[in-house]
Amino acid sequence: MTGNVKIVINGDTYELPVVVGTEGETAIDIGRLRQMTGLIALDPGYANTGSCKSSITFMDGEKGILRYRGIPVEELAEHSSFIETSYLLINGVLPTKEQLNQVSMLFNDHSLVHEDMQIFYQNFPRGSHPMGILSSMVNALRSFYPELQTIEEEINITVTRLLSKVRTMAAMSYKISRGHKVVYPRPDLSYCANFLNMMFDTPVRPYDIDEDLVKALNTFWILHADHEQNCSTSAVRLVGSGRVNLYAAISAGIAALWGPLHGGANQAVIEMLSEIQEDGGNYQRAIARAKDKKDPFRLMGFGHRVYKAYDPRAKIIKKMCDQVLLKLKIADPLLDLAKELEEAALKDDYFIEYNLYPNVDFYSGIVLRAMGIPTNMFTVMFAIGRLPGWIAQWKESIDDPDWKLSRPRQIYTGSGKKRYTPMDER
Ligand code: CMC
Repeated sequence: MTGNVKIVINGDTYELPVVVGTEGETAIDIGRLRQMTGLIALDPGYANTGSCKSSITFMDGEKGILRYRGIPVEELAEHSSFIETSYLLINGVLPTKEQLNQVSMLFNDHSLVHEDMQIFYQNFPRGSHPMGILSSMVNALRSFYPELQTIEEEINITVTRLLSKVRTMAAMSYKISRGHKVVYPRPDLSYCANFLNMMFDTPVRPYDIDEDLVKALNTFWILHADHEQNCSTSAVRLVGSGRVNLYAAISAGIAALWGPLHGGANQAVIEMLSEIQEDGGNYQRAIARAKDKKDPFRLMGFGHRVYKAYDPRAKIIKKMCDQVLLKLKIADPLLDLAKELEEAALKDDYFIEYNLYPNVDFYSGIVLRAMGIPTNMFTVMFAIGRLPGWIAQWKESIDDPDWKLSRPRQIYTGSGKKRYTPMDER
């Protein structure tokens, strides 16, 4: 579809332009709707609203397609590393060997976290959720690393700092929460190997780096690296649109990701599967509850706003689950339960009618569990993976010639004008 769309209001015709993307996605540009007609568009949850034009990620929910800068996520998961994919997302092209080496060196230079930040970690109350801690600490980075002289330097160094330090901060937070000595990053290790080493190396049991696990972690993070205008990315763009610093915008993204309907679903899936297991493995009861409209229970790790077919990321993670468990010689009863639950749900009329398929979070917790990541850190793992996507989207938004402060409108449904009632008359 090209050209214009005509809308008729009270007999008057207005023409609104149609915008077409490179993959044929079409939209009506309503940028001047209110000026022309006095009306606004109402779209709760923005289900039909394109908030920007973007050249980063393409998704086709009906066909189960996901591509970063045009490259299918399946190819990246198989051949790329998380750092290479991050470069691709942020810079728009795959790096040369020299560029990749340069990035790795920069990551090493910026991998340490200011020692004073450890005091904060030590003083969060026990039981604080790691996502709340991460969001606060990323925001606090601005105080430790004040603004640099030039905009270019500020952006480049801040991006490098975030990508490198957030991984150190996550591992540091885990070590401190266990009362263990913090393990520092090592320049001889790759990004993912370094993270695993910082998490699991101890003075009494040196961590043995397993290249298969390193590959699995690379794949896990690649699959989470971007997902166009989802809740947390929109939060980063919206908060960033006020021209706040990047640390604050990313901190907002982390807070948005925490929710169980979004990134928090990976933790919620394992909790749900564990409850079903305690209930004697009665997954049919969980399916029945998910279908019952009077019960708020939902099958966690199922359904997606955009995918109305199998989530391509879930396909890869499901396969990875089998490989990782086999390699580590782990028999996880939750994996068997997850497979039985998936099979039953996919045959069920309700799930067929609503196009509910497993999403990325359905199997990811099982892989993370096998790696030794504690359940309450699953969403932190998602956040580390999503960081390059948030950064790429933020960068695109600040360079966008159509940039505007994000400020939706509303339809007011409250009381009409009324007089203030003094206290003794109420
Ligand atoms: N179990 C049972 N019913 C469901 C589910 C589910 N997992 N997901 C959607 N539905 C039903 C829902 O009850 C509603 O029914 P009705 O129209 O009769 O009221 C209908 O499907 C549409 O639901 P919705 O919430 O309006 O649709 P949405 O497109 O906003 O839903 C979702 C997307 C992810 C919020 C939802 O599928 C869900 O809550 N899933 C469980 C949580 C989850 O796994 N989240 C991770 C998403 S993937 C990771 C990420 O990128 O964030």
